[in-house]
Amino acid sequence: MSDNFEALLQESRIFEPPAEFKEKAKVADLSLYEWAERDFLGFWADAAKDIEWFLPFEKVLDDSDAPFYRWYTGGKLNVSYNCVDRHTKSFRRNKAALIFEGEPGDSKILTYQELYREVNKFANVLKKLGVQKGDRVTIYMPMIPEAVIAMLACTRIGAPHSVVFGGFSSQALKDRIDDAKAKLLITADGGYRRGSIVELKKNADAALEGETTIEKVVVVKRTGQEVPMTEGRDYWYHELMADAALYCEPEQCDAEDMLFILYSSGTTGKPKGIQHTTGGYLVGVHTTFKYIFDYREEDIYWCTADIGWITGHSYIVYGPLSNGATVVLYEGAPDWPQKDRFWEIIEKYRVNILYTAPTAIRTFMRWGEKWPKGRDLSSLRLLGTVGEPINPEAWIWYHEHIGGGRCPIVDTWWQTETGMIMITPLPGVIPTKPGSATKPFPGVEADVVNDKGEPVPPGQGGYLVLKKPWPAMLRTLYGDPERYKNTYWSKFPGWYFTGDGAKKDEDGYFWILGRVDDVINVSGHRIGTMEVESALVEHPLVAEAAVIGKSHEVKGQAIAAFVTLKEGVEGTPELVQELKQFVAQKIGALARPDDIFFTAELPKTRSGKIMRRLLRDIAEGRALGDTTTLTDPAVINKIKEQYKDEG
Ligand code: PRX
Repeated sequence: MSDNFEALLQESRIFEPPAEFKEKAKVADLSLYEWAERDFLGFWADAAKDIEWFLPFEKVLDDSDAPFYRWYTGGKLNVSYNCVDRHTKSFRRNKAALIFEGEPGDSKILTYQELYREVNKFANVLKKLGVQKGDRVTIYMPMIPEAVIAMLACTRIGAPHSVVFGGFSSQALKDRIDDAKAKLLITADGGYRRGSIVELKKNADAALEGETTIEKVVVVKRTGQEVPMTEGRDYWYHELMADAALYCEPEQCDAEDMLFILYSSGTTGKPKGIQHTTGGYLVGVHTTFKYIFDYREEDIYWCTADIGWITGHSYIVYGPLSNGATVVLYEGAPDWPQKDRFWEIIEKYRVNILYTAPTAIRTFMRWGEKWPKGRDLSSLRLLGTVGEPINPEAWIWYHEHIGGGRCPIVDTWWQTETGMIMITPLPGVIPTKPGSATKPFPGVEADVVNDKGEPVPPGQGGYLVLKKPWPAMLRTLYGDPERYKNTYWSKFPGWYFTGDGAKKDEDGYFWILGRVDDVINVSGHRIGTMEVESALVEHPLVAEAAVIGKSHEVKGQAIAAFVTLKEGVEGTPELVQELKQFVAQKIGALARPDDIFFTAELPKTRSGKIMRRLLRDIAEGRALGDTTTLTDPAVINKIKEQYKDEG
């Protein structure tokens, strides 16, 4: 166990909700918890009343074909209608929906009325280009308003989107396009990141080389640099929008119609297409946003995630917009042009709620408190974190230096699969402990169990499971229902297995310990060890590779790779650089290994499985655990020797 976790387990400070916060909080007592406990289905039926349905649902939960659960069956609705149209019918039509801040300093505000118009027009554009209900659309965009418009336009016509993070490589984009069999791609000429241009169109062109299911490409002009346009395939967004019709009738989608696919890493080399549907997802993200962020009409809310991740889907786009919130959208890096860009944005717009990742907080800690100190952060009233365990030290720093000691912190545990936040404090009622995500959200049942599925005593580690279905849960893995069943529902039949380890303390608080499978969490981003291994062995000089996550002060985990080379090839420092670059090119910069070690052999069990735990122990300089199942224990010593030389 790393130092972080040791510190976390010794943490005993408790922070009560500040009196001033509690006084005005949406939820200030435990009645919501009690109600959900008493009447689980009634609670979720009531939550659905905040959504406008074209046709009311007949049943809240249909579990007749579990684990293929269905929510709000028979109901018909449209997500873009709920996120935009209905707000144009009240005072909100003149309210800012999106406050966009571009990295170079340009900014733009779209009111709900304006967002409504853009979404309608773009929905018509999509239709004109031949996109029909059920067709998949891939979105590969920078963090600009058009990305949100594109997502909402897809939902308007019932075309599931698959957003691919703009930092992914052309190969990763291609794999995701192929798997989803997407018909249309929406991208931009480029986006700004740390003062340079990310060449999205160039990557997109490379991804479309050879055979592809993509028929048309829509390109948003963001950076304005010269990009080649393929006649008959590529179209400029602004040209299409210039003569698009103003209104598009929203599709009446079934509650269980597919809303989107989002690819995430698992334990194999192939990312999983996590599939979410319409009704349950919207109810889930709407309700959690409202209560967890204690959302008020006048708030300005900023989530610093990218729309390429689930956090961006649920808590930049769908949760906030369905609540009619004002959302800040920032395109670029936190240190551009200076290390106080986040704080400058908060000062500029008087942001009230900030939702970010522990890795960002640790980075800010390293940069020093002078950066936030130089800006007026007095507008903040609530802080949130997501994506990885937060070490108490970072929690306290966030609380003091960003929150001025007055803002509650919601540490929110959830996953791409869960769609919505699952374990979190409600800030007006649940006292927080630094490093703990505290309690399950009302209507969510979580537990920590041992291998046999028995609850473990307080303080003991075990597997984190979810014992009841929830509305925003994934419905399946796109095109692979068997893998869905095996991955999530086979270890503990009847319960959802999260892949995370956790502990509960005497107060029933959850402390998440991290992944127990072959998934690494680098700066809050999930990367499969097998994905990186597959990329490495594609290199002509590599024979075999084993990849592990090693503790890292800022990123939480960093990628380390043990590589055996083909016969006669010498491992040089140049080759280390080449392999790191090779992986970045294959998957994206986020998968670039921090360390690569050449070794003559890899430690394997008799059944041929690579013993990653041993490699982790070596990489983190710990004493070795049990090696009795190793085919050739001598291999370990050889690796250790080599690691010492190179590390
Ligand atoms: O290990 C947990 C970690 O992130 C994983 C989910 O990753 P992803 O699907 O990419 O979604 C990230 C954003 C929701 C989880 O299995 N994780 C997420 N939030 C927390 C966390 N670990 C500890 N504390 C959290 N608050």
